[in-house]
Amino acid sequence: MATRKPMVAGNWKMNGSLELVNQLSVAVNNIKSADLDVVVFPPYPLLSSLIEQGVTTGAQTVSENEPGAFTGEVDAQLIKDLGAKYTLVGHSERRSIYGESNNTVANKFARAQQVGLTPILCVGESEQQREKEQTELVVAAQIDAVIDKLGLAALKDSVIAYEPVWAIGTGKTASPEQAQSVHKFIRDKIATLSSDLAQGLTILYGGSVNEKNSELLFAQPDIDGGLIGGASLKADSFTAICNSAKRTV
Ligand code: 13P
Repeated sequence: MATRKPMVAGNWKMNGSLELVNQLSVAVNNIKSADLDVVVFPPYPLLSSLIEQGVTTGAQTVSENEPGAFTGEVDAQLIKDLGAKYTLVGHSERRSIYGESNNTVANKFARAQQVGLTPILCVGESEQQREKEQTELVVAAQIDAVIDKLGLAALKDSVIAYEPVWAIGTGKTASPEQAQSVHKFIRDKIATLSSDLAQGLTILYGGSVNEKNSELLFAQPDIDGGLIGGASLKADSFTAICNSAKRTV
């Protein structure tokens, strides 16, 4: 297996406070090691405080546009200038609540790379789509939207996060076998275009990951770490999840 460095990312969603920044930055600085990337995705106003504490950060989304008259939007260049390294694109909550299409997500991916942020492309099927056995179809279309618009090479400096919608915030985690099967599908799909790129690509699992299930999920050959929601808000849980990625990925 290629030597992919494990990554654990904490998506705070619309949660957090300066108090949480203080707690979590102590925890993240204690976890830091050369064999694990830990990244925190807080709400925008908390980015600078985390960066000042030495935490690697990313935005939860960015505008697809260059600066201009887009009230309420945030420019990717500004995020980069603050010192953030990553941005999520296409999180299922952005897709379902804010109507982001595959095309918009591809544009955001492009804008992130244009300014030097690493995009983490979130993909995943709904419960209904899984029941109709459309998981691979849906995930492939979400990835193809980026490849078709930007070319395969764009995936080189990116991360993919597989987050089945039915597992997000529900406590219903995908089993290690279910998750591994989709991760393998993604890697095999990309390997048909470039085996080197596929072997080097970090693919994270997200959806109700906690300190009890992380070890078995991260032990799967094509799961390179996790994108954690609720459990990333508690220093103890997040630390335990990070430690399990160090041991198993
Ligand atoms: P939960 O871990 O709370 O299910 O959230 C997952 C997620 O959406 C991370 O981006």
